[in-house]
Amino acid sequence: MTEQDAYAAATGPAEAGSGWRRFRAATLPLSRTREDAESSVPGRTYGGVTRRPVFRHLARVAGLPAGRTPYRVVSIGDDGRANVTAAYHLAPAVPAGRPVRLLLTSDHQLMPMVPANLAKAAETAGGLLDGVLMAGDMVNVPDRASDWFDSTRRPAFFAAFAGRAVGRWPGAPILPNTPLYPTIGNHEVMGRWSATASLDEQFNDPQPGAWDVTTYEELFPVPRSEAGGPRWWSRTIGNVHLIALFATAIWRSPKLVGRGKFQEAAQDVDDPQRWGHGQFIFEPIARDSAQYRWLAAELASPAARAARYRVVMFHHPSHGLGHHSAPPFTDPVPTVRPGGITYHYPLADDHILRDVEPLLDEAGVHLVLNGHSHVWNRFRNAAGVHWLETSNVGNSYGAYDVTSGRSRALPDGYVQQGDPGGLSPIVPTVAPLTAPDGTALPYVASNEITVFTLLDSADGMVRSYRFDTVDPNAEAILFDEFPL
Ligand SMILES: [Fe+2]
Repeated sequence: MTEQDAYAAATGPAEAGSGWRRFRAATLPLSRTREDAESSVPGRTYGGVTRRPVFRHLARVAGLPAGRTPYRVVSIGDDGRANVTAAYHLAPAVPAGRPVRLLLTSDHQLMPMVPANLAKAAETAGGLLDGVLMAGDMVNVPDRASDWFDSTRRPAFFAAFAGRAVGRWPGAPILPNTPLYPTIGNHEVMGRWSATASLDEQFNDPQPGAWDVTTYEELFPVPRSEAGGPRWWSRTIGNVHLIALFATAIWRSPKLVGRGKFQEAAQDVDDPQRWGHGQFIFEPIARDSAQYRWLAAELASPAARAARYRVVMFHHPSHGLGHHSAPPFTDPVPTVRPGGITYHYPLADDHILRDVEPLLDEAGVHLVLNGHSHVWNRFRNAAGVHWLETSNVGNSYGAYDVTSGRSRALPDGYVQQGDPGGLSPIVPTVAPLTAPDGTALPYVASNEITVFTLLDSADGMVRSYRFDTVDPNAEAILFDEFPL
């Protein structure tokens, strides 16, 4: 079917013809997408925050035969002008029990290494992926439309995943052919709405109860659950049962002056409107929260019990060598003194380590996928649950381990080196990177070498590959594999 054929099929009187069927989409104008002076959009600039119309088309396609079926999307504007996509492929949902191959990733945030990463991931997977597991932080500012679609300065999320990113690498057409299973990270949450502040300022200005994930929910209405909508949900993908949670906190500066993780700015003490409330958690996940109760029931469900592999995905890495594994994931404990408000985060109260991890242990979860620290590292706890972060796609914050010698810049009393959750990092089993003295490193934290991971549930193996983006002739190198 040519572009012209597709346009004719979309606009003609017939619902079906020789070799084609038409499925109508429901169209939703996204309610909060905007641009501002910091946006880079093809052919125009913005003086201040300006609404930018984006339309989501959602169609349900039923009755597909097994295997892959070609499709095109025809989108017609109010002015009658049509966009017709290239031909991509759809497949029916993978039947329960069937082996699948999944790409594990997160934290793309328009980072320059992402398109190279995706190109090598697609090449390594041979184009046959059954899903992309994205553990949060797809873009930088979720209400900035160009972060998702068409930034001219950096690789936009969908552009890289469609193989049409700007820069040296175009990315790869993965998402037009493969379902995305997304998770909410801190970069999917907008702060307080303002008519005057820049989008960055609004993004950085949430308060407890005054934030939203509207753009995320409008972009990704499925998968969803009855209790959590698109915020937390589960889905059986072949022989993998996937559970996604909303576990993330606002990022605030670790510096000990100004509004940050550990204090309010001294000048704001008498102005609660300006407070940041520390590194507060957006959606509760602690014992007895709605999300926690849903997770407990979900892990006990027949679908979860019957699956060969149980995978749980959420953004915050309570086990990790990265900078963002500390301070602990818990409600900030404020201390109010004359002239100052400070916040403390007791390690014993980490909601994931204290409450969520025991549930996962008891349910025989095979793998936890996290993001947030822009690092590759992995762990295995005493119950046999694997914890993986494979977000080394750029903007490395380093790894804080005895082998790097580095310590997190945090006040005394917080875990400055190693996993705050007390596990030892696992050295890659095939080809670890090494320190100058030859020591094998249990992490990848690099702005030149990027990492991607494939879960192949036919043999239950999780394989991580690294790729040197500086060397034009480099190959993707398998550096770690382990069975679930
Ligand atoms: Fe994050």
